[in-house]
Amino acid sequence: MPQDTLTITDNRTGKQYDIPVTDGAIPALALRKIKATPDDFGLMCYDPAFMNTASCRSRITYIDGDRGILRYRGYPIEQLAERRSFLEVAYLLVFGELPDAGQLTAWTEQVTLHTMVHENIKKFMDGFQYDAHPMGMFLSTIGALSTFYPDAKHIGDVESRHLQMLRLIGKVPTIAAYAYRHSMGLPYVMPDNDLSYAGNFLSMMYKMAEAKYRPNPALERALDVLFILHADHEQNCGTNAMRGIGSSQVDPYSALAGAAAALYGPLHGGANEAVLLMLNEIGTIANVPAFIKKVKAGEGRLMGFGHRVYKSYDPRARILKQMSDAVFEVQGRSQLITVALELERIALEDDYFVSRKLYPNVDFYSGLIYQAMKFPVAMFPVLFAIPRTSGWLAQWEEMLLDPEQKIARPRQIYVGEGTRDVPRAATEAAARTTR
Ligand code: CMC
Repeated sequence: MPQDTLTITDNRTGKQYDIPVTDGAIPALALRKIKATPDDFGLMCYDPAFMNTASCRSRITYIDGDRGILRYRGYPIEQLAERRSFLEVAYLLVFGELPDAGQLTAWTEQVTLHTMVHENIKKFMDGFQYDAHPMGMFLSTIGALSTFYPDAKHIGDVESRHLQMLRLIGKVPTIAAYAYRHSMGLPYVMPDNDLSYAGNFLSMMYKMAEAKYRPNPALERALDVLFILHADHEQNCGTNAMRGIGSSQVDPYSALAGAAAALYGPLHGGANEAVLLMLNEIGTIANVPAFIKKVKAGEGRLMGFGHRVYKSYDPRARILKQMSDAVFEVQGRSQLITVALELERIALEDDYFVSRKLYPNVDFYSGLIYQAMKFPVAMFPVLFAIPRTSGWLAQWEEMLLDPEQKIARPRQIYVGEGTRDVPRAATEAAARTTR
């Protein structure tokens, strides 16, 4: 008997089945041959919310949730955050290796070349209500890009794929900043190609009448690190949406609009917005114990705590906690950070959180830093979507090139009514009204 197998006895029939175990997983389709009767469909796995299902093989991001490890293409996130820029990390995610000096120059030039948007995109964005949520504007505009680049449907053509990637990575900061400027009633600012990726984004956000916007180097670096930390996170809700939608072979703009929509939700990319709202609601340190008590009683959650994968401190939260000091030094320390630190201190000692392995996640600190950098709360999920675009695109291409992948189509267990006849009277009444 080969060792790397799982033997299953079906007690309904007494039959035994040997199922191969590869990389710690069994192929779900192997269960299909386990049948109670010859005309039985075969056994399925029931796994709502994909709690224990690997949907792909990936070489992009590694997470060990129990040990708090995150690596992109094998490189520890801590080293990438300390030693590299976001554009280098985006290149790493997409191409699998860090760029050498020549590759980085070419990549930076190409991304920079694609930062401008068509004038009609600006007009499209002008059509939004003055108080439209920037994330709603962002994801709709990304979807609209597919109508500007019909060539993007050639997803089997590597050159076309890479052109769309450059366009998307180049344009997401522009669209994000324009969503903000629209909501503020401010004119759009042209990209400044002399600035870094993060610096140009800050310029498009905040430039007013000055001839040249000069970002504060500490804030520019902090934003770049935030971008690095958010660039990919393996098969989360948004990435699963990107792969799932992309598996229908639609163009990447449409798939990415769907991924951004998934990111918009409060349990995913909207969590940092929810953290700030929560901290504002708590208000002062004195109110922290009462708030914790409410959470423990099941009245709401401690936003920015807990993670489906990390069952220890999220490594990204640790980097951000350290980095926050540099930002607060420039921008000043807010009352909310004091409340946040107290909340964290109490929660990390409380058995409710400890026994459930609920630790701060990346959103616990990112919101505080964004706020210190004067980003409005509604922009938080948009700030997440900018760097995550590179991760989504890397995952999308990996999915397209994976011979094992097909259109994503889960099964269901039907628990509705059995077959039944439509009552004749209602049918006749309906027929009379349509005559
Ligand atoms: N506050 C209080 N209790 C919590 C929390 C929380 N933040 N998170 C989980 N729990 C409890 C939950 O009530 C449950 O308790 P019990 O076993 O008594 O019923 C237990 O912990 C397990 O929770 P779960 O909902 O089964 O865990 P999950 O893996 O489905 O949820 C989560 C993960 C992130 C959705 C959840 O922890 C949560 O809602 N956190 C707050 C929102 C948040 O910060 N989201 C950002 C996620 S990180 C960003 C990203 O990578 O996208």
